Amino acid sequence: MTVVRTRVAIVGAGPAGLALSHLLAEAGIESIVLDRRSREEIEATIRAGILEQGTVELLDRIPGSRARSLGHRHDGIELKFGGESHRIDFQKLAGRSVWLYPQHEALKDLIAARLAGGQDLRFGVTVDGVFGEDTATPGVRGTNADGSPIEIIADFVVGADGSHSAVRKAIKTDNTQGYFREYPFAWYGILTEAAPSAPELIYSNSENGFALISQRSETVQRMYFQCDPNTDVNAQSEAELWDTLQARVPGTELIEGPIFQRDVLRFRSYVAAELRHGSVVLVGDAAHTVPPTGAKGMNLAIADVLLLNEALQDLLLRGSSAGIDAYAEAALRRIWKAQHFSWWMTSMLHLSPEAGEFDRLRQLGELRSVVDSEAGQRYLAEAYTGWPMQTSL
Ligand code: PHB
Repeated sequence: MTVVRTRVAIVGAGPAGLALSHLLAEAGIESIVLDRRSREEIEATIRAGILEQGTVELLDRIPGSRARSLGHRHDGIELKFGGESHRIDFQKLAGRSVWLYPQHEALKDLIAARLAGGQDLRFGVTVDGVFGEDTATPGVRGTNADGSPIEIIADFVVGADGSHSAVRKAIKTDNTQGYFREYPFAWYGILTEAAPSAPELIYSNSENGFALISQRSETVQRMYFQCDPNTDVNAQSEAELWDTLQARVPGTELIEGPIFQRDVLRFRSYVAAELRHGSVVLVGDAAHTVPPTGAKGMNLAIADVLLLNEALQDLLLRGSSAGIDAYAEAALRRIWKAQHFSWWMTSMLHLSPEAGEFDRLRQLGELRSVVDSEAGQRYLAEAYTGWPMQTSL
């Protein structure tokens, strides 16, 4: 049995856990980061690629971050519906931009920087339980990659371990079930080797269902279309996939190429009822999940971390629990705004299987209300590019 002592035990080496360990180290607070997965698995995780300006500014603090050099700045998106196409101009409306930089590239930067900074970062460690959550010396019990047991004793435990969070399960009491919304559709995602079909992202509401045309680089593109959650990922030929995508972006000619990755992404909105339980706190996907339509997942995780970093510094450097006592309330304000935005973009753009003619026409009326109003467009631009990041309530 290995027993290690640290100040903050962080479970999960995703964007939230790694960014938090960096900020704590900047303030001289030692932490240990554990992840069930191998480094290779983490670096190969395919996720969304839109970073809010505040997220890029946080990544600027990471030595060697390539978000600005490899990522692409986007100053707007295109909204397509009912045979019309409208550009939402982020710079004009909100004075901000977003960056297209795939999450797994950000993870490669973060892992390299943390290891170079001397971070105790352990891969292949499964968490079996959390103890002492009601005391000042909580900890994590786990199993190392070689099967031997490990115990980490800390001043605080952070669950940054994703939507299937082991930490959340370990502290779950009857009132921590949380709030859910399931959606009757999913996204079929592809990666294709082709030139970009458009300079900016296209969010398209068509009578055949939603599609999103995104990019990755000059030679690789990411595209999605709305599908049934039970779709068999291998059932369609490449030609059928292109026909489906093309039918959903009328007026835009898609540049086709070989499809080398396919996946079906299920949609769920979730907020944990309790973000903090004594000396244990949840951040990122462990605390909440959003459907991908608003591209908020990683950005919301970084917003949590900026708040939690200040709260933990207050507690561990200055002995004040004011920040950590206010963390859940402060984080939940942004979480529920982002939940609303992600739900709104999702419900406005997708065709629900039970939707009738009324719902369809009402949806077009809603889209028109947004694009015909500068205030409507501005709300979308402000929410998409991200509300200002906060470090306290
Ligand atoms: C992506 O490029 O993967 C992406 C972009 C925008 C979204 C979701 C996913 O809203």
